[in-house]
Amino acid sequence: MPWNPEVYNKFKAERFAPFYDLLTLLKVRQDLQVIDLGCGTGELSRKLADYLPNANVLGIDASAEMLQGAVEFEAEGLNFEQRSIEQQLKEDSRWDLVFSNAALQWLQNHETLIPSVIGMLKPGGQLLVQIPSNHDHFTHETIRNLAAQEPYCSALNGWTRISPVLNIESYAKILFDLGGSEITVFEKVYPHVLKDAAALADWVSGTALIPYLEKLPEELKKTFTGHYQMQLYQRFRESPVFYPFKRTLMAAVFG
Ligand SMILES: C[S@@+](CC[C@H](N)C(=O)[O-])C[C@H]1O[C@@H](n2cnc3c(N)ncnc32)[C@H](O)[C@@H]1O
Repeated sequence: MPWNPEVYNKFKAERFAPFYDLLTLLKVRQDLQVIDLGCGTGELSRKLADYLPNANVLGIDASAEMLQGAVEFEAEGLNFEQRSIEQQLKEDSRWDLVFSNAALQWLQNHETLIPSVIGMLKPGGQLLVQIPSNHDHFTHETIRNLAAQEPYCSALNGWTRISPVLNIESYAKILFDLGGSEITVFEKVYPHVLKDAAALADWVSGTALIPYLEKLPEELKKTFTGHYQMQLYQRFRESPVFYPFKRTLMAAVFG
């Protein structure tokens, strides 16, 4: 996926807020073996590592572009490897804490994914996950509608991205069925105030637009982005633009 750390980093404060909420759910213990799935630029893996006494943290991410900057955050007890979450799930390694901030939404079928991720834990281990649950917002609906129109529909072979994200009750049930205790699952609106529609388009181009741009031929990438921006400009003429961003946070202990 062509992730762009520069675009992603533009909205750092907004993107960091749910990470700090996740930290409030973390059971701090000494000497934890931790994996951060989809660690991105590694900046938050570093904050996590700094927060935990004497932990060993491994951040993995599929994107070489995102990991490029991670070198600067490496420290004793904190390493990064380029690997997909799917590959990591096939490994035998077990962890005291499986952490993932804003990454699991890119993997399909959460009914089986979440149990597999929980399977990475040692007995007594903790799962700590944050997933954006904003897929029904106008910004996302507009992408799907545009992708269903020509010439994009043919170029994409009729493909649009269906969000795999479940409702909070379903996640709570999965955690319970797998023997989770101290279960916390909630959805929170993060109130983002953006300068204007252009800033909103910028935000989305750092995430939700990516899979479409990746699949479209070169000559349609620019027009797709242009059409998308135009629709946002028509809908959000005001300044600032209020963007209520929903995210799901979950934590549980297993075994
Ligand atoms: C929104 S960023 C979050 C990065 C970081 N966790 C943070 O909070 O700043 C999502 C990250 O997930 C990674 N990602 C998406 N699908 C992945 C997969 N299947 N395996 C590994 N990483 C993946 C992307 O490369 C990207 O760096």
